[in-house]
Amino acid sequence: MKIKDAKARVVLNSRGNPTIEVEINGYHEAAPEGASKGSNEAKYKEPTEAVRLFNEELVDFLKTFEIEDLDDLKAFEESFMSIGGIEKYGANTLIATELAILRAWSNYYKEPVYKFFNKHPSVNIRILANVVGGGAHAKGKSTDIQEFLISPRTEDTRVAIFVASYFHKLIAGKLEVLDKSFLYGRNDEGAWTTSLEDFQVLALMKSTAEDVKMTYDVEIDIGIDYAANNLYKNGYYVYKNGKFLSREEQIEKVIELANFYNLFYIEDPLEENDFEGFSIIRERTSSLIVGDDLTVTNIERIKKALENKSIRGVIIKPNQIGSIVKTYEAVKFCKENGLVPIFSHRSGETESGIIAQIAYGMEVPFVKFGISGGERIAKLNELLRIYENRP
Ligand code: PGA
Ligand code: ZN
Repeated sequence: MKIKDAKARVVLNSRGNPTIEVEINGYHEAAPEGASKGSNEAKYKEPTEAVRLFNEELVDFLKTFEIEDLDDLKAFEESFMSIGGIEKYGANTLIATELAILRAWSNYYKEPVYKFFNKHPSVNIRILANVVGGGAHAKGKSTDIQEFLISPRTEDTRVAIFVASYFHKLIAGKLEVLDKSFLYGRNDEGAWTTSLEDFQVLALMKSTAEDVKMTYDVEIDIGIDYAANNLYKNGYYVYKNGKFLSREEQIEKVIELANFYNLFYIEDPLEENDFEGFSIIRERTSSLIVGDDLTVTNIERIKKALENKSIRGVIIKPNQIGSIVKTYEAVKFCKENGLVPIFSHRSGETESGIIAQIAYGMEVPFVKFGISGGERIAKLNELLRIYENRP
């Protein structure tokens, strides 16, 4: 496919904030953006400036490329780096451009996007759904832990999606009973916000999981994204009730939670540079200990985490590294080295379902797309279509 037309514009993301959208041969995609970003993520350019630079400097450049496969995308990225790259144009510009290229490729060849990566993927994707949350994703009183997650333990992705949605509705009714100030408020990722304490939410998660199992006969695994980097100030983990924990106390607390609630998944339990601390938690629990701010989809940091035995799984967010090629390489590295890759949305999302296509094409075993709100549902519905049409 030859790139014949390219332009960029500013549109809104799911938080109502501006973001760059790129159109290639008439097909558009935009860049998502996090709120709880790791400081080692690839650099973003302010969207209006990114769009101006794109329209002034990148249009003719893009029209010199023909993209058939991942090697072509790699060649394009190398050229892009040679004219200034992410440093000059921003990771948001590069990711929006590459997503739009994938979308245009799919329309040109009348093939689903996933076929760009793999003609015949074979993976039953498990989902992780954020059902209650606080931290950087909520305003007002909310939990310290950023995300309370569930993962229906089933190979049938379609069943998992409907069961998770049922769980999300069921727990709201329970929150209403326990939390007198509960008004069915949802945060940036569509998870319920509550003034209950973290441990109360975890207890509620367990009891809801039992109820859902009774109804659907599906085990529900429980997990958390601590996003602990956001709590970390001047060497301490500072909680909303004024309590602060030392590194050692935080480590003990996480291990206690893991064991007491039988947590299947724990993301970012410590600040973003404590590779050794992660490895203590990993050694003393059987949970899937996962890096997000720790690893930022950056293969060098994933390698460091591997060497330190810090984690068992890695969050993969294409916009953290700003490149589809590097995202592919990170996923490949994880699989070759026994780390579980988990493909993830951002809290500020686009209305596109394309990351579901990419996750399927890269054959990742888990996705974390949320479970509520149009921009999250767009990704889950895309998964439903993929699995419907699968041979
Ligand atoms: P973000 O957070 O998209 O707001 O950075 C999501 C996460 O921490 O997993
Ligand atoms: Zn995270």
